[in-house]
Amino acid sequence: MSKSLISIHDFSKEEILHILSVAAGMEKNKSQKILEGKVVACLFFEPSTRTRLSFETAANRLGARVIGFSDIKNTSITKGETLKDTIKMVSNYVDLIVMRHPLEGAARYASEVCDIPVVNAGDGANQHPSQTLLDLYTILETQGRLDNVTINMVGDLKYGRTVHSLLQAMSHFDPKFIFTAPQELRMPEEYRTFLSEMNIPFTETASLQEHLDDCDILYMTRVQQERFSDPMEYEKVKNVYRLEASMLSGVRDNMKILHPLPRVDEIAADVDDTKYAYFYKQAENGMYVRMAIISYLLGLK
Ligand code: CP
Repeated sequence: MSKSLISIHDFSKEEILHILSVAAGMEKNKSQKILEGKVVACLFFEPSTRTRLSFETAANRLGARVIGFSDIKNTSITKGETLKDTIKMVSNYVDLIVMRHPLEGAARYASEVCDIPVVNAGDGANQHPSQTLLDLYTILETQGRLDNVTINMVGDLKYGRTVHSLLQAMSHFDPKFIFTAPQELRMPEEYRTFLSEMNIPFTETASLQEHLDDCDILYMTRVQQERFSDPMEYEKVKNVYRLEASMLSGVRDNMKILHPLPRVDEIAADVDDTKYAYFYKQAENGMYVRMAIISYLLGLK
């Protein structure tokens, strides 16, 4: 079976650092035709802007060709074809599959039914490991280090796959965490237990203002309507936090605001013009990191 990237735990600390180093090289040289003759499939069973387009651009910049779909309405899945059959067919056509799916575990299952590398581009509320690697790249770029960074995660910590993956990846680097969320969207117990077992300190609060001045990275997230089975529950928490420029007067000079995007109302537009906003560059970094991930999984130096 080929090496896949399904969970951030699939990469060791050394592999993570290797990807970040290769990504820095990709940023310096944005077009390297090292994948000529290769084909990458991007199979998106759930909407995406950044992840799909940056993976496709990454493959194109490396000289590979791209096939795939961004809407299952035009595929035989609508006729009842199973995930297994879809993946087995596509894996006969291409060298690597990038896949987003609403069901937790779907990407792992796909990697088990085919012989080519699979990259999990998000599976339900579970994992989004390529986002995590670009988040790490951005933390390193903005802080000059990964060790001993304090990250304040804000918003939907219950369903947010990006915060779950990032938390696990940062466990290699002696972090401190602040979890800012209402009770309904609290960081799940399994992740809090994981941190306790690793002796990694964390604080929880429901107040956005309380710990704004204590962190190096303010990691904002969207409350994800699509993860709620009860619309009333979503209505209760959808506007729980809104970061505005006036709230940033006491923050650390080095503090940067990250967001996996898309945002809705949780970051006001006036924050974009502050020196703390870094989410557009973070999204750009996704392309370099995904160039590194694709070339690594295809065994290219
Ligand atoms: N960050 C992220 O996954 O964005 P998209 O949903 O647009 O891919």
